[in-house]
Amino acid sequence: MEFQVEIVRLDDQGRGIGYIDGKIVFVENALPQEVVRVFITKEKKKFYEAKVIERIITSMDRVIPKCIYYETCGGCNLMHLTYCKQLEYKKNKGIQILKKFAGIELKNPDMIASDEFYYRNKVVFHVKDGRLGFYQKESHQFVEIDKCLLVHPTINQLLTELKGATFLKSVEKVMIRTFQDGLKTQIVFYPQENLKEEEIIHRIKDFVTSIYVDNRCIYKNREILEKIGDRNYLVRPESFFQVNTKMTKKLYDEVKEKLEPSKDDIILDLYCGAGTIGLYIAPFVKYVYGVEIVKEAIVSAKKNQEINRTKNIEFYVGDTKTILEKFHLQANKVIVDPPRSGLDQKTKEYLLKLQPHRIIYVSCNPVTLARDIKDLEPKYQFETITFVDMFPNTDHIESVCLLKLI
Ligand SMILES: C[S@@+](CC[C@H](N)C(=O)[O-])C[C@H]1O[C@@H](n2cnc3c(N)ncnc32)[C@H](O)[C@@H]1O
Repeated sequence: MEFQVEIVRLDDQGRGIGYIDGKIVFVENALPQEVVRVFITKEKKKFYEAKVIERIITSMDRVIPKCIYYETCGGCNLMHLTYCKQLEYKKNKGIQILKKFAGIELKNPDMIASDEFYYRNKVVFHVKDGRLGFYQKESHQFVEIDKCLLVHPTINQLLTELKGATFLKSVEKVMIRTFQDGLKTQIVFYPQENLKEEEIIHRIKDFVTSIYVDNRCIYKNREILEKIGDRNYLVRPESFFQVNTKMTKKLYDEVKEKLEPSKDDIILDLYCGAGTIGLYIAPFVKYVYGVEIVKEAIVSAKKNQEINRTKNIEFYVGDTKTILEKFHLQANKVIVDPPRSGLDQKTKEYLLKLQPHRIIYVSCNPVTLARDIKDLEPKYQFETITFVDMFPNTDHIESVCLLKLI
């Protein structure tokens, strides 16, 4: 079925929204003010999904996507929108979600912009028949990639070096991470069958600082070093590390600013990963306790403590709610940086009992952020939020929010 639709706004996933006889239709790659002819790809009781056949009126905010794989690889979904409008869209998305789920009326919150391209320090390529690429979103369709415009140029150079390598036929996935602006590079091969390791080393040793097969380092350094501000961080392949290195400093500075650290402060850094935020603010406070569920991340956190010669920080490994209950950790300010699922009920109950003066909430999901603000409402008042664009050309938003004890 084909229809003509006027797009009125974008949804939370960056899809255009229009109406066909009063029923909502979600259209990929369509922008507000555009009139498009579409065909229906999915019909449900309450909505349609559709694809564009022809654009009859084109938005002034549309740009030609720079990436030749944009329509097929499924990694980005906002590259057809000017970067300025992407920022506006993300800010509005945050504003609407916080209003809808937490009743918060935001007036023009800050949004910190990023480099639009080549910002990612990490990528995982899938391998099919020895070729590197990505699978289309929610599909088994493989797209071979020669260059990705989101990743650091060093990763693209390595992609070129790997092209045609016969050992890739025995590999399922390849992870590449590059730090210190492309000078240090880690590559991990996840094999399907035995690999000829000498062949791998011989082919790429001049382009990398470490080579792993699964979790075994077969060439040079086990970890690579990255700097955020004046702090050094050792990163292992399995450690969580923010993917946009330049913006990570801005994100952590935002956390520091909202924390207003003082030498009397005792801080809880919950969901601390490799201790990166805690170590960043430790020089400005009395003591920091970091809590993280992944054992290997805490091994890295302790090493990071050592290399930064930081004495006033201590790490606990385990589920946040269990560790808080078991050790009765005390603090007058708390930083939380949870995964997309947000804070669990027990952790929120602990915070409501602990009553720190400030909670700094770093969030990658505004919906769970809004839910958690609401749950903390009996004791906490929302003060301010800053959006930080860690992922240009995609609909993801990251934010740093300040809650104050009432
Ligand atoms: C968004 S990352 C933040 C990491 C760190 N703050 C940073 O900036 O690099 C979330 C972290 O929470 C950890 N995590 C997930 N569930 C957890 C839980 N229930 N208790 C403790 N840590 C958890 C993950 O392993 C991950 O390291």
